[in-house]
Amino acid sequence: MHLIENKPLAPLTTLGVGGPARYFLETRSEEEILEGSAWAQKHGIPLFVLGGGSNLVVSDKGFDGLVLHIALHGVEVIESESADQVLFRVAAGEDWDSFVQQTVEAGSAGIECLAGIPGTVGGTPVQNVGAYGQEVASVIERVRVFDQEERAFVEFSAAESEFTYRRSRFNSTDKGRYIVTRVDFRLQHGGSPTLKYADLQRLFAADATPTLVEVAAAVRRIRQNKGMLLVEGDADCRSAGSFFKNPIVPVQAMQTITSVAGTSPPTYDAGPNERKIPAAWLIEQAGFTKGSSRGAVGISTRHTLALVNRGGATAEEILEFAEEIRAAVASRFGVTLEMEPVQIGF
Ligand code: EPU
Repeated sequence: MHLIENKPLAPLTTLGVGGPARYFLETRSEEEILEGSAWAQKHGIPLFVLGGGSNLVVSDKGFDGLVLHIALHGVEVIESESADQVLFRVAAGEDWDSFVQQTVEAGSAGIECLAGIPGTVGGTPVQNVGAYGQEVASVIERVRVFDQEERAFVEFSAAESEFTYRRSRFNSTDKGRYIVTRVDFRLQHGGSPTLKYADLQRLFAADATPTLVEVAAAVRRIRQNKGMLLVEGDADCRSAGSFFKNPIVPVQAMQTITSVAGTSPPTYDAGPNERKIPAAWLIEQAGFTKGSSRGAVGISTRHTLALVNRGGATAEEILEFAEEIRAAVASRFGVTLEMEPVQIGF
């Protein structure tokens, strides 16, 4: 086992802040995951599983435990009995966007709208990644994990993974218990792209029939315009993506929000008697503008929901600004924003 001590974590995250990991282990196989987890358990030290680091805030003092960096690779394509479906069996350390590109080029539909999302495959079931009208929950067939309590590899179906908006059993009821090693995705072979999201529809003529490859490329363009695509030299993408979840509020709260703002917010579907509102809209209505900053921390110049490290920011500064935003939204609208990225070492 090749343990590294005091490994800086900031360069392994898209936000680029935070201190080192006391111990760090790169794992390339399930056996190495088992070994690393056993080692942490034996020494009674906490363990954190790091994938692409794209949805993570590391504290300035770092993480006093073992960071397992998941570097398991491999994509297996398994034809199914039914000709219109195909199963992709993907190791957790694979780069998500490269995998999406592989599927669209293969003519397999189901995740084309999730193009351009930074991070690795293993992170996608944990927070049920979703964008532009798709969610991984609807195409995941099975999630293979290492159960640190039972010390065994087990597999969960989508139903057993308990997916809801940005949530699964892996980041809620069973948080910290399972390490994702592989995900099976069932995609539609020869299926048509999903064109549900208005931003995406706008890019194509009403009677157009774009290919999966074209839709994935269009999604990356939209993301890039919002600073939500990792592009070398783009200052707005040094972020953790959306910093807050879009809050789900009871229908009755809508009237107050509308009368306080003097205009009604756009809403997304969210169960009966509930509405999901864009956090970015609430933040703007609470007085924050794109591009505004507090020292080295800023709001992206292209999307109000992304907090950006403008160079040399600390985790503390980022959380302070986030707290200022949360307090302002709460006091204006009575809505409590929940942070979206994972935090470690706090
Ligand atoms: N809006 C603003 N100001 C902005 C941007 C957006 O007011 O600067 C308002 C507008 O009303 C706009 C609405 O927010 O119509 C929605 O904006 P957008 O389409 O950019 O989506 P979002 O709700 O801000 C969510 C996800 C994103 C995902 C997009 C597209 C969450 C927390 N975020 O953002 O996911 O890419 O939809 O589907 O659900 C992420 O999780 O890191 C992430 C980027």
